[in-house]
Amino acid sequence: MIKRKEIAEKSYWIGKVDDRKVPFHRLTLEKGTTYNSYLLDTEEPTIIDTVDILYGREYVENLQEHTDLNSIKYIVINHVEPDHAGALPALINKTKNATIVTTEKGKELLKDMFRLKDKKYLVVRDGDKLDIGGKILHFYETPYLHTEETMITYCEEDKILYPCDIFSTHIANEELFNDLATNDITEDFKVYYKLIMHPHRPYVRDMLKKLKNLDIDMIAPSHGYILRNNPEKYIKLYDEMSDVGNINKNGLILFTSMTGNTAKIAQNISKGLENLNINTDIINAKNTDMEVIKEKAEKADVIFIGTSTRYADMIGNIEYILNELIKLDLSDKFGVAFGSYGWSGEGVEIINDYIRKSNMTLLDKSYLIKTTGVDDVDLPLRVKFTPNEDSKAICVKVGKTVGEVLLSN
Ligand code: FEO
Repeated sequence: MIKRKEIAEKSYWIGKVDDRKVPFHRLTLEKGTTYNSYLLDTEEPTIIDTVDILYGREYVENLQEHTDLNSIKYIVINHVEPDHAGALPALINKTKNATIVTTEKGKELLKDMFRLKDKKYLVVRDGDKLDIGGKILHFYETPYLHTEETMITYCEEDKILYPCDIFSTHIANEELFNDLATNDITEDFKVYYKLIMHPHRPYVRDMLKKLKNLDIDMIAPSHGYILRNNPEKYIKLYDEMSDVGNINKNGLILFTSMTGNTAKIAQNISKGLENLNINTDIINAKNTDMEVIKEKAEKADVIFIGTSTRYADMIGNIEYILNELIKLDLSDKFGVAFGSYGWSGEGVEIINDYIRKSNMTLLDKSYLIKTTGVDDVDLPLRVKFTPNEDSKAICVKVGKTVGEVLLSN
């Protein structure tokens, strides 16, 4: 391990270069990665993020060579995943005076994940500042970039942004700074964004708004190169890649309804889609010619299919329509099931079976969790009896969440 490298006056990189083929999010990082941790050696020495859990012992031993661990006053945890907070237990158990600085959600996760219930915490909220004796740190909450507890840290004096995963690149490198890189890193930077950040595109837009008020000379992320040359280029790339203003997507909501409840669900899903400017057709299957339905289905990027459940089954002509739809090539589309019910709501599950039989991608809760990390949206969408204000809001949220998936694909 490199002992430490100065990145600004009294600010040092103290991370780990991992040049293995690193297993990561069901991928293998062929170029390896780095876990960038930073020491701000001020009157109240502060560490920003640590390294992967695999290297905790090595990290602490290295740090001990140049820093009295009992002098460490703060350990800022921007993100609790084990590649950044993994060495925290090894570190904090060797210190006497350190306080963990993190978000409220970060604190709850750290307590459970790493059994750090009895440690000192300073919970920070969006816009909070902390004087560490010679430098002032600012904290901004950046939820879902890429997990719910994440935040970024900005040092006022050095004009350095410490955004953890955001603005990262997976490349094992010893040069540390982007102006010393032997190859252009732009493509690797974009690939990282697409994999990790783009599924959370609306939150990227929120984060970029917060950066507008900051004077940034250097971006010191937690993977790959420190961006000291032209950091604005990388902020602009995030802005361009997360901007979906020119993307046109189409939705089709096809339903049949017994008492009007499933129709109400359809209308509220469409509100969520239309919030994102997704052109949406709502079709009552009962009154529509099959050729029209086929034409609309072929034009759509997502097809919602809805039915009420009666006697543990779908109603009306939905089964006939599904049998026709599965004959089409719908392989570039998502399928989503929804409907109202009174007892157990089997209708939407049968629709899901048909979507699986078609060549559409079934967009259900499992898909959402695996691709976006969103775990608070239940799909297929089932609403018991008449939608009330709460369930209408859920339907709108479903439309919006599915719309975000479309815009991120
Ligand atoms: Fe680099 Fe989300 O961990």
